[in-house]
Amino acid sequence: MVFKKADWPRRLRSQEWYGGDSRDNIYHRSWMKNQGLPADLFDGRPVIGICNTWSELTPCNAHLRDLAERVKHGVYEAGGLPVEFPVFSPGEPSLRPSAMMYRNLCSMDVEEALRANPVDGVVLMVGCDKTTPALLMGAASVDIPAIAVSGGPMLNGWFRGERVGSGTALWQMSEDIKAGKMSRADFLEAEASMSRSPGSCNTMGTASTMASMAEALGMALSGNAAIPAVDSRRRVMAHLTGRRIVDMVKDDLKPSDILTRQAFENAIRTNGAIGGSTNAVIHLLALAGRIGVELTLDDWDRLGRDVPTIVNLMPSGKYLMEEFFYAGGLPVVLRMLLEAGKLHGEAITVSGGPIADEVREARNWNEDVIRPVDKALTTQGGIAVLRGNLAPNGAVLKPSAASAHLMKHRGRAVVFEDIDDYKAKINDEALDIDETCIMVLKNCGPKGYPGMAEVGNMGLPPKVLRKGITDMVRISDARMSGTAYGTVVLHTSPEAAVGGPLAVVRDGDMIEIDVEARRLHLDIPDAELEERLAGWTPLVEAPEGGYARLFHTHVQGADTGADFDFLKGGRGKAVGRDSH
Ligand code: FES
Repeated sequence: MVFKKADWPRRLRSQEWYGGDSRDNIYHRSWMKNQGLPADLFDGRPVIGICNTWSELTPCNAHLRDLAERVKHGVYEAGGLPVEFPVFSPGEPSLRPSAMMYRNLCSMDVEEALRANPVDGVVLMVGCDKTTPALLMGAASVDIPAIAVSGGPMLNGWFRGERVGSGTALWQMSEDIKAGKMSRADFLEAEASMSRSPGSCNTMGTASTMASMAEALGMALSGNAAIPAVDSRRRVMAHLTGRRIVDMVKDDLKPSDILTRQAFENAIRTNGAIGGSTNAVIHLLALAGRIGVELTLDDWDRLGRDVPTIVNLMPSGKYLMEEFFYAGGLPVVLRMLLEAGKLHGEAITVSGGPIADEVREARNWNEDVIRPVDKALTTQGGIAVLRGNLAPNGAVLKPSAASAHLMKHRGRAVVFEDIDDYKAKINDEALDIDETCIMVLKNCGPKGYPGMAEVGNMGLPPKVLRKGITDMVRISDARMSGTAYGTVVLHTSPEAAVGGPLAVVRDGDMIEIDVEARRLHLDIPDAELEERLAGWTPLVEAPEGGYARLFHTHVQGADTGADFDFLKGGRGKAVGRDSH
């Protein structure tokens, strides 16, 4: 079955601007012609927006201008008119206070740019963590034909004969420096070795996870997720994407046709199989909210629970994205899920056909990189959603990145009121803490930080590290980088900044975590918890103005995707006419 909803030729949306002889039509065409565009390019052919998150301040996406040219080749070849435009680029490496604070801003930029401009379809140029969900969310809100193409991961990092994975190696090495095991000179050499080509993080961090989510959702061509940024086949992927979007416009194949409940279920299961980032939870919940699919945290727990992690990539495993690509990439994983009855094979993708047709023939070229199920990294690869009096609306933990001996643990809370409190205390040798304690970090949720920074995998105290201990239970309302690991409870909801129970945990309280039972419990009497909550006063004040004020006022909890309340649901593609 090939998707086809509309006849071709027909009058497209862009013709509201370009198709006619009114003063407005002449105005719209004439100014575009200053770019050297022949008249017949405005004859009713599909106008394809190339929505680009290129920015030198987002180094992971710094090569996307070049890739956009390849998209244009494909669009022209298929008979469309490509028009590239920039949007706000939320780059993970540099943005403060957190890149996550700007995901929604970027999605608004995309939504408004698409609706207000004469485009019939759009290619979403994505890469760095937030750029993928932001562009998908913006496009979903407008619901015109859309297809994502990723910039692709960096080449493997190598340092003194060892793979160094983006982020993952950084966490390890910064602990080694604190423990006195690594010199600064070695660290500088290692950081250069880690990022040696254009592209996004080379681990199965959030960028690679979200590229995989885009492919599993059906919003990118098959094979898009893993091709390295500098491989010539990445350019081919961009070229083919450009060709494909023109036909998607002709067929009127829209995000709402692709982003169905089945597609989200496929993506959740895929996340389990790849050992993907916990950030995917928030981004997919937000995306589902935009397109009108009811998706909850419990779906994440239920659907991922029996999915083994079979992709042996850092941070859960050994290899990097380059090897994932050589092994066959995501189509192999999807084929294995299909054969295990864990993929809705009939879900439609941007190809216009069912996803099963895309992956059925995919072959695995390296069974140590993509493991057979009986050699899985972990049998429970999904995201565990913990609940209890400490997280009434849920908290998440990634079992494949956690330590088995800490999955059931009772420990004394050592509390940090916010990230500054943590930084002030953590290196203090007098801090009363040992490896059996549970580190609790407050006020790092969506409103608290603001923007829910990736600080949940807070580093361990030096005096614990010196004993050779590498993991402790950590609980916060923050997120964690997809490249990070550890027994880290994240996204605790409601967050401390709005008076969730996390806000009233005190030093010395006993906390129980039981991942198997999905339980997170603050061991104090109910009456005392109520009393503490009644006496709670907020630590975080609303910013006075600007985007920070908008963010603080409207951002929702992590348990529903941290989108703005007024952005939930789509607003369509209609726009009133101008009159110059
Ligand atoms: Fe941009 Fe990892 S920081 S992709």
